[in-house]
Amino acid sequence: LSTPLQAADVATMADREIQNVLDEALDAFAGLEEGANADYIPALAEVDPDIFGIALVTPDGRVFTAGDVEAEVSIQSISKVFTMALVMEEQGVSFAPEGVGVDATGQVFNSIVAVEQHRGAEMNPMVNAGAIATTSRVSGASRDEIWRRILDFHARFAGRKLAVNEPVYESEAATNQRNQAIGRLMYAYGHIEVDPDRATDIYTEQCSINVNARDLAIMAGTLANAGLNPVTGETVMTAENVPEVLAIMATAGLYDDAGKWLYRTGLPAKSGVGGGIVAVSPGNFGLAAIAPPLDPAGNSVKAQAAIDYISQKLGGNPY
Ligand code: DON
Repeated sequence: LSTPLQAADVATMADREIQNVLDEALDAFAGLEEGANADYIPALAEVDPDIFGIALVTPDGRVFTAGDVEAEVSIQSISKVFTMALVMEEQGVSFAPEGVGVDATGQVFNSIVAVEQHRGAEMNPMVNAGAIATTSRVSGASRDEIWRRILDFHARFAGRKLAVNEPVYESEAATNQRNQAIGRLMYAYGHIEVDPDRATDIYTEQCSINVNARDLAIMAGTLANAGLNPVTGETVMTAENVPEVLAIMATAGLYDDAGKWLYRTGLPAKSGVGGGIVAVSPGNFGLAAIAPPLDPAGNSVKAQAAIDYISQKLGGNPY
């Protein structure tokens, strides 16, 4: 075959064309009324449901934005990707297949049935049980040192200093008895070897890091660019570990809807109940959108629609 399989090549597209695609997505989906803010974390129910921001970053460092691009939401489960990447940097990629697991559970993200099924084995770092176990592996002599390492790693991906949304952290910490139970179960089954309550608490704090759509797109753009932040020029993670990060995102990034998402877009992606989604087209672009109303699987309705649309227009599907 001499003709390219991809519909478009972002590297050769003019800035105006890319910007138009983002603007079209914003216009097309801003009016979608489906979904509702997460409310099992009380503070998330208070977030403005009309926030809608989109951003795209190319490997050569071009940044495109549309909508409420300064509006910050808590990163929530998207942090699972970056804490997992940190543990891969520290321990190697095999911690996932040999420890936490790399298969989709087919269950909701905070499923206890999934933990019970294999006594805490065969999870993955994208669901709560696997993510709390992953956070428990981050090195550090004290809680403060572990936390600084996690926050700093996220900040290097985003290319700016990040801060915690304290009301969201306090709200979740006061109501996350289910995650505490999951942490203790994972400890009981030997998949967490340190204080499980502390691991759950650090996990809760990492989920409360505030980000805007631009931050998320730069984080995704760093993964699309083999671990080198295309905006700051800093190498944030080892290029060799990036394919494993993307494979785990593709398998379980949108939880029990990960298969539907991959079928639709072909993109490794990760959602958070704050309303953000990041998606990666390797070598091509990092793309993110934020809109708080979620579908029943816990994935932002508008962010999914916008990312799907933009990726199709830009030929992002690697398959
Ligand atoms: O542990 C929780 O329930 C939240 N901190 C994160 C869950 C989440 O973002 C699931 N996402 N779609």
